[in-house]
Amino acid sequence: MRVLLLGSGGREHAIAWKISQSSILDELFIAPGNAGTKKHGKNLDLKLNDFEAIKEAVLQHAIDMVVVGPEEPLVLGIYDFFKQDPELKNVGLIGPSKEGAQLEGSKDFAKAFMSRHRIPTAKYGTFDAQTLTEGLRFLDAMKGPYVLKADGLAAGKGVLIIEDLDEAKRELEEMLVGAKFGAASEKVVIEQFLSGIELSVFAITDGESFKLLPEAKDYKRIGEGDTGLNTGGMGAISPVPFADAAFMDKVLNRVVIPTIKGLKAEKITYNGFVFFGLISVKGDPYVIEYNCRMGDPETEVVMPRIKSDILDLFEGVATHTLSERDIQFHDKSAATVMMVAGGYPGDYQKGKTIYGLNSITDSLVFHAGTLPDGPSVVSNGGRVLAVTSYGKNIEAALERSYESISKISFDDAYYRKDIGKDVLEK
Ligand code: AMP
Ligand code: GLY
Repeated sequence: MRVLLLGSGGREHAIAWKISQSSILDELFIAPGNAGTKKHGKNLDLKLNDFEAIKEAVLQHAIDMVVVGPEEPLVLGIYDFFKQDPELKNVGLIGPSKEGAQLEGSKDFAKAFMSRHRIPTAKYGTFDAQTLTEGLRFLDAMKGPYVLKADGLAAGKGVLIIEDLDEAKRELEEMLVGAKFGAASEKVVIEQFLSGIELSVFAITDGESFKLLPEAKDYKRIGEGDTGLNTGGMGAISPVPFADAAFMDKVLNRVVIPTIKGLKAEKITYNGFVFFGLISVKGDPYVIEYNCRMGDPETEVVMPRIKSDILDLFEGVATHTLSERDIQFHDKSAATVMMVAGGYPGDYQKGKTIYGLNSITDSLVFHAGTLPDGPSVVSNGGRVLAVTSYGKNIEAALERSYESISKISFDDAYYRKDIGKDVLEK
């Protein structure tokens, strides 16, 4: 099989690493990729929202299957673009239709979908500029903290959690009338605040059946003890200690199965990953958000824990034969720690030479934001490297990752030293 993987982060490096081990792979291309993906295939210089250029590359390289990493091309309708094009319609595409991608692309769509299918989630109301007065009244009737979510994609910045009622009202107005997040906040979802511990659950579906992937927990804040600004993710662990069989049974029956059945019942085409961002409230799972793609850095621990051939699963998705495929996990635990550029998620510098990569033997170093620079590798983003290790348990995996990190350096590198600590202390 000839495969094109779209994306350039740690998630895509981990997927490329996994695809490269498939017994049915002939050649792998990654667009645009990074210095890490280059080791597993050929990087192509393409823009992910330029579907015509992607089409050209697919035809030129006789691609059989396209795997979409990030959400944006999915929300913009890359699935529909492929299926409506006579030259592309037989190419497998791993990702939902434009309508299915609305689970991530529109918070209002996701909430209404969950209501229709009685999937547990926070109570909510959706408002626009015309219904601002109702929105303000809705806030009056709630208890704080107040959760305001821009309806559309806002690069992970569209969720505000505010203690003070007057400030929440000002922000609501700023979002709806002041276009704080541009078109993304033309509608705003106001939600009940849920208190609990979060985790990420993943499924892959062909629209009929699904397979659950290993679950993970990510660490979103920049500072230790979960303090400071939100980031794209500073580390992850899998499995998640509190996600025991009883909890996962609830997740399966209350969330995953109703979601897959709901998509099918509403004839929403969905052939790809579903990411369930969950919160456990006293042992009961609630959906905080859906994403139409894998998580990052969760993928950097999920892929290593999958034992089965990932292309066999992808083929099952593309040919609607997923129920005939088998998925097996490694018993080992996995942990990843993200090395980021100093200053991230605020201003930071790129182009720093990374030293020590070749000395790492006990970890998998997934590149998040890097570029090849002659024989060297330089940083090219806020999140630079995800250092993943296996261990007989999470503690052992983390210990290996921190040991490997001590051998890697670049100017002004930063990482959290407390990944996994919160759940291990319990
Ligand atoms: P989202 O982009 O929807 O995942 O929201 C970003 C983060 O905000 C989540 O990971 C949670 O930590 C937090 N969050 C979102 N919705 C709620 C809620 N209803 N109650 C408490 N925290 C929330
Ligand atoms: N790690 C969370 C996300 O990928 O959205």
